[in-house]
Amino acid sequence: MRAVRYHEYGNPDVLRITDAPTPEAGPGQVRIAVGAASVNRMDVKLRSGAMASGPLRKPRGTGLDAAGVVDQVGPEVTGVQVGDRVFGAGSAVLAERAVLSSWAPVPDGLSLTQAAALPTVAETAGRVLGLLPDQPGSVLVVDGASGGVGTILVQLALRRGLAVIGTASAGKQELVRRLGATPVPYGPGLVERVRALASHVDGAADLAGHGSAGELVELVGDAGKVVTIADFSGSTEAVVTSGSEGRSWDTMAEVADLVAAGELELLIDGELDWSEAAEAHRRCESGQATGKIVLTVGAAG
Ligand SMILES: NC(=O)c1ccc[n+]([C@@H]2O[C@H](COP(=O)([O-])OP(=O)(O)OC[C@H]3O[C@@H](n4cnc5c(N)ncnc54)[C@H](OP(=O)(O)O)[C@@H]3O)[C@@H](O)[C@H]2O)c1
Repeated sequence: MRAVRYHEYGNPDVLRITDAPTPEAGPGQVRIAVGAASVNRMDVKLRSGAMASGPLRKPRGTGLDAAGVVDQVGPEVTGVQVGDRVFGAGSAVLAERAVLSSWAPVPDGLSLTQAAALPTVAETAGRVLGLLPDQPGSVLVVDGASGGVGTILVQLALRRGLAVIGTASAGKQELVRRLGATPVPYGPGLVERVRALASHVDGAADLAGHGSAGELVELVGDAGKVVTIADFSGSTEAVVTSGSEGRSWDTMAEVADLVAAGELELLIDGELDWSEAAEAHRRCESGQATGKIVLTVGAAG
């Protein structure tokens, strides 16, 4: 089969469509004929080598989130059949065939493009919300409310009766307001700006990793109610959720149903052919995208 892979770490141009071994679904997995795959910040960090401890030893695929049609069901898997439309998470999914370890049916009314945009950001939003105060009326500050994780987290929090103050760049203040949160600019002085809007803050999420965790702890007054998903420097005493502990894939299906029902807005920046994977990575790391970037694979996207 063909897959987008890279043979060395580097800039987006290391991404190439090449021949690759077709993966097999192992126990608890399904394999799909991929229709669409989305780009996450993690894909960019992995490809650049920012997370590597040494040179790449063999070609590596890219992509964590995909949607497509099941073409192989692994051992010990029930409730899904060849031919079903599913979306979910795996590794090296930007390929003609991909193995998913976590998946859910694509609801009627949702395209493969929309479904492929969801897994990582929906799972992360649900996991972070699960670590924050959840009493209706609680006030949350979300740093990075305009991003892939943030736009979903904001909407889920509001549905649960929480109030949200969300940070964004100047150009995305209106987006945050449209989603139902109170927007504020991010950056230095955040404590004062939030205090001008709210007499107290019950919990906060750092979804950006730009060093706000200390200010968020100051606002909440309790480091145990501040969650970061992007600052693992340990420079503050904020609660840290790792990418692998306590995953909540149920949120992926919940969000897909809400999007299909028109009750949650899923932002898609653009759809490109998978031959434009390098351009998609460039757009992701530019910080200019509004919503997810999705690559269509073959004719099924
Ligand atoms: N630990 C985990 O499990 C996990 C899971 C998923 C993602 N992540 C990480 O979480 C981060 C967010 O992911 P994402 O998919 O939401 O990324 P994204 O779509 O690129 O969103 C990034 C967000 O950060 C904001 N931002 C940019 N510069 C900022 C600054 N100086 N101060 C505060 N906010 C700033 C952006 O606002 P504007 O667009 O308005 O500039 C946007 O809201 C990434 O680092 C990603 O790798 C971690």
